[in-house]
Amino acid sequence: MSRINVGVVGATGAVGETFTNLLEERGFPVGEIRFFASQASLGRTRVFKGREIPIRVPEDGCFKGLDLVFFSSGDGISREWAPKAVADGAIAVDNSAAFRMNPEVALVVPEINADLLPPKGRPAIVANPNCSTIQLVVALKPLIERYGVQAVRVASYQSVSGAGRDGIEELFNSTRQALEGEEQETSAVFPAPIAFNCVPQIGSIDDQGFCSEEVKIMNETRKILRREIPVSAFTVRVPTLNAHAEAVWITLSKPAGSAKEIEDCLAGGEGLQVLRHGQRPAYPTQKTASGRDPVYVGRVRRDPDDSGTWLMWVVADNLRKGAALNGIQIAERIFDIQPRG
Ligand SMILES: NC(=O)c1ccc[n+]([C@@H]2O[C@H](COP(=O)([O-])OP(=O)(O)OC[C@H]3O[C@@H](n4cnc5c(N)ncnc54)[C@H](OP(=O)(O)O)[C@@H]3O)[C@@H](O)[C@H]2O)c1
Repeated sequence: MSRINVGVVGATGAVGETFTNLLEERGFPVGEIRFFASQASLGRTRVFKGREIPIRVPEDGCFKGLDLVFFSSGDGISREWAPKAVADGAIAVDNSAAFRMNPEVALVVPEINADLLPPKGRPAIVANPNCSTIQLVVALKPLIERYGVQAVRVASYQSVSGAGRDGIEELFNSTRQALEGEEQETSAVFPAPIAFNCVPQIGSIDDQGFCSEEVKIMNETRKILRREIPVSAFTVRVPTLNAHAEAVWITLSKPAGSAKEIEDCLAGGEGLQVLRHGQRPAYPTQKTASGRDPVYVGRVRRDPDDSGTWLMWVVADNLRKGAALNGIQIAERIFDIQPRG
C-alpha cells in the first residue's frame, strides 16, 4: 500500500495527541509525519512509532509534500493555514468551527454523508463536526432512515476535556483546591467554577440566549442530515474528565411498536453500541465510553404523553469519535484504507 505523508497541526493538544495515538493504533499507512504547534512548543518533540519527531510552527511552504493535514489548533489557525495546506496539495481535515457552516465545505460524519468527500488527489478542506453533533447524528441515523424524523431535542452533559488541555487541568486543580477548603469564586477556563458544579453554558451566549455550542449542534445537525427539521439543544459542562453524554428526544414520522424495536434498529446502526433495557450494564456512562470508539446508546423509552417521541441516552468519547477518530475515518475513506483490527 502506498504511504501517506501526514501533518498534525495542534499536535501537543488534547485532540492532536489523540490523532497521533489513533494513527498508530489503527495502522494508518503513514510515510513522513510532521507535527506543528505554537512557538511555545518549539524545542519539544512527539514520539511516533518509537521515533522522536520535533515540533515545528506553521510557516509558508511547511505543508509541501504532505498528502493529508489534520488541523486541531482552533478557528484562527485553521482559517489561516488550512487553505495554505490545500494550496500545497494536501487534503485538510479541520476540527475547528472555521469552515463547518461554509456551504462550499463538506461537513462529514462518514457513517452518514461520506458521499460528499473529495476523491484522493483532489486537495480540499473537509470539516469535522462539533463533538456533541457527531455522536448525536450517529445515533439518529438508523432511526431516521427507518422511521423518518419530525424533531430532535437534546440536552448535553459535556466533560472538561472538551475544553482541551486547559479544561482537564482546571478540573484537577480546582477539585484539589476545593477539597483543601479553598472554594473558587471564578474559573480561568469555564464561565463558572467546575469543581463539584455543573455549568449551563459552553461558549458565548447570543441575543436569543443560546450559547455557541448549542447553535453549533442545531445548525450542524441539519447540515449533516440534509434536513430542515427542528433541532433544539441545551448544553451543560459537567465535572467529568472525558466523554460527553446526551439526553435525546426524537419525534419520529412513522410509528414504532416498542422500545425493543427501536433498540434493534439502533443496534443495526454503523458505529453504534446499544445497552438494552433489562441487561447489565443497563446504560452507558462517561466512563463506559472514554477511551473507546463506539457511540453508546441506552435507556431507550417512549414518551408516555407523546407516542411518536422516543427518549435515549447517547454517550461517546469526545476526543475520539467526537474529534480525532472521526477525522481519521474521513481520511480512511478518502484514501481507501482499511483500519487495523
Ligand atoms: N477537545 C475536544 O473534545 C474537541 C472536540 C472537537 C473539536 N475540537 C476542536 O479542536 C481544536 C483543538 O482542541 P483541543 O481540545 O485539542 O485544544 P488544546 O488541548 O488546547 O490544544 C490546542 C493545540 O493548538 C496548538 N496551538 C495553539 N496556538 C497555536 C499556533 N499559533 N500555531 C499552531 N498551533 C497552535 C497548541 O500548541 P501549544 O502546545 O504549543 O500551545 C495545541 O497543540 C479546537 O478547534 C477545538 O474546538 C476539540
